[in-house]
Amino acid sequence: MVSRVIPVDDFDLVIFGGTGDLARRKILPGLFRRFQAGQMPESARIIGAARSDLDSTGYRKDVANALKEFLPETARPKGDVKAFLKQIEYIAIDATGDGGWKELSSLLRDDIVRAFYFSVAPSLFGALAERLHGYQCSGPACRIVVEKPFGRDLESARALNKTLRDHFDESQIYRIDHYLGKETVQYLMAVRFGNVLFEPLWNAQYIDHVQITVAESVGVNGRGAYYDRSGAMRDMVQNHLMQLLCLIAMEPPSRFDPDAVRDEKLKVIRALESPEPSDIVRGQYVSASEGESYLDQVEDPSSRTESFIALKLRVSNWRWAGVPFYLRTGKRLKARHSEIAVVFKDAPHSIFGQALGRHRNVLAIRLQPNEGMDLLVTIKEPGPGGMRLVDVPLDMTFADALGPEGDDVPDAYERLIMDVIRGDQTLFMRGDEVEAAWAWTDPLIKGWKDRGDKPATYDVGSTGPEDAAVMLHSEGRRWRDIAS
Ligand code: BG6
Repeated sequence: MVSRVIPVDDFDLVIFGGTGDLARRKILPGLFRRFQAGQMPESARIIGAARSDLDSTGYRKDVANALKEFLPETARPKGDVKAFLKQIEYIAIDATGDGGWKELSSLLRDDIVRAFYFSVAPSLFGALAERLHGYQCSGPACRIVVEKPFGRDLESARALNKTLRDHFDESQIYRIDHYLGKETVQYLMAVRFGNVLFEPLWNAQYIDHVQITVAESVGVNGRGAYYDRSGAMRDMVQNHLMQLLCLIAMEPPSRFDPDAVRDEKLKVIRALESPEPSDIVRGQYVSASEGESYLDQVEDPSSRTESFIALKLRVSNWRWAGVPFYLRTGKRLKARHSEIAVVFKDAPHSIFGQALGRHRNVLAIRLQPNEGMDLLVTIKEPGPGGMRLVDVPLDMTFADALGPEGDDVPDAYERLIMDVIRGDQTLFMRGDEVEAAWAWTDPLIKGWKDRGDKPATYDVGSTGPEDAAVMLHSEGRRWRDIAS
């Protein structure tokens, strides 16, 4: 059991797409864990809604199977599962027709939080919003949760924002970027704004560069059709990596409140320069094993979509003038390893002389696996033999530093769904933020399409294309290791 949880208010949560992959893999297991933690009021209900002709009993079986599939046996004692299932109902609904809507409307209770999770194809968002409104399911205490992808360019994101805002106020729209729900991401904000230690150094005077790495060992298998239309830029950079960059680069907000934080993030996106083509490296994975290369796993055998991208970016404002932000993300890399590393400058003068080599402080925030933070500091290597310097990590792994609670890091979805019920939008993207991110992304994608650029190849299990390494080497820097 996780302690120190504050129960949320009573709610009805409707999951459109309640039988789908995301609901089974993330949303329902996440809700179950919150239930176990004692955060869900006994009267709260989760209502699965989908096309399938099921009743509540049938759906409960489906949910029980999902928990079995996605949670280890020790994490789902029978008694807990049984009690959780009692809070679950199902309604068969036709997102684009009229079937099921009256029933849904009469099922919902008044005067409590109503949340509607759109875990369906984006093409259905408009139809759902319209019907929720038309069948009087919405109301002031109602929220909608919208999954990514939020558009595939500026135009489609604008159209989607308009459709949603035709029926809901911005304060009711929760656009999910699950990276914002990761524990370490919030940890980063606490480290930056809760300590005096870092903020005075957090600028171009002391920081040499920043590296943001989101490396995945999985490929696109099974999602080839979606992925090939998106690529790493749309799938990861426009949203997840951009959000991480914003949290590193933003000015301190005046309060930890939704609009204060999002205003500051938006300023960062607007201050992002458009990189030159030479500051972008795109790649596609290849393997000698049959069926393992990117092109084997997508429909178009001559696809130029990138499964890897590295970028050198600049945030043009006083704080960050001259500081490169290197971003990289890719599939089928050496390991699953995500981190943000802030690499500080050399000491202004070395009293030890050049012979002792170059030593730099690095603050590395590990997103996954092994969530935590390292601060590399230079010390004297112990033992006789004169002055020798060595960089050692002041390691703070959550599991070690915080005991059992540090080990029990909640999944991003758990936290975000509870934030929706609480009505806290801080960790959700505002409409203007998403549009600004697309406005920055679109010309880059158009640029490489117009130039007919082909992605470089990289071996499955490597750290990405050689050119990505060269991008830093040519400036006397190097990527941090992608460690397993
Ligand atoms: C999703 C992307 O948003 O994030 C996937 O669509 C990617 O392609 C995933 O694999 C990565 O999330 P995480 O939490 O496993 O790092």
